Amino acid sequence: MSLLLEKHFIDALKKARRIVFFTGSGISAESGIPTFRGEEGLWNKFKPEELANFNAFIKNPALVTDWYNFRREIVRKALPNPGHLSIYEFEKFYDVTVVTQNVDNLHKRAGSSIVLELHGNIERNFCISCGKDAVEMPEKDKSGVFRCECGGLLRPGVVWFGENLPTAIFDAAEVAISKSDLVFVVGTSLQVYPAASLVQFAKGCNCYIVEINTENTPGSYLADQKFIGKSGAHLSAILEHVKRFRG
Ligand code: OAD
Repeated sequence: MSLLLEKHFIDALKKARRIVFFTGSGISAESGIPTFRGEEGLWNKFKPEELANFNAFIKNPALVTDWYNFRREIVRKALPNPGHLSIYEFEKFYDVTVVTQNVDNLHKRAGSSIVLELHGNIERNFCISCGKDAVEMPEKDKSGVFRCECGGLLRPGVVWFGENLPTAIFDAAEVAISKSDLVFVVGTSLQVYPAASLVQFAKGCNCYIVEINTENTPGSYLADQKFIGKSGAHLSAILEHVKRFRG
């Protein structure tokens, strides 16, 4: 896809040294991983209150364990798409930090060096009793759950509704944004806080903001440049422009 870029955006790309990519589930949609909202979204088919909070886990750990195994399987079979791969390639031309709400590992698998995972990682599991990470996953026990050596329940290392984001990661995201010239906001509905507040934060830091999404979002009004469409094609096309003046 060729893309005609406006002069102010080209100027911002030319001047920039540090870039943050702030991503959500939309960037992984082209890898076959379902998003959360919208018609085909996971939260349109499943209830977050039964699956993605601590009380639900305590009430029915086997159900929640199965749900995360189901998602883990999808993620393991998925491959990074041109969106993830383009973000990695931007590292040839800029200092890049990826701040993601995704738990799917695809930015890391694409090669990105700095990935701040605001909502954790689906491959991580830790014990709710002793707090230790599971190095290797055991077999499920008779009741269909994974148990730590200490006997406690192993839960996925993702942030559930009602839980705090990891403070050090969120702080690192703010620092990266405050030092950056340009922030790309890609494939997120900006409906989940505090992650979504990072876009207002970026505006307050005078970053040039680019939004790429298949539809408008509550944060679109903050964007200096907006692209409506798929992230894979748009990021690849923007990267081609960058190669022309920085390659
Ligand atoms: P959402 O499902 O809320 O939003 C996905 C966004 O991606 C929507 O705005 C779509 O329009 C857009 N989109 C879909 N396909 C796209 C494509 N090919 N290219 C570009 N954009 C596309 O997902 P998130 O914003 O990531 O939280 O959701 C935020 C959080 O809500 C998730 O991290 C998760 C969820 O509950 C936790 O698990 C804590």
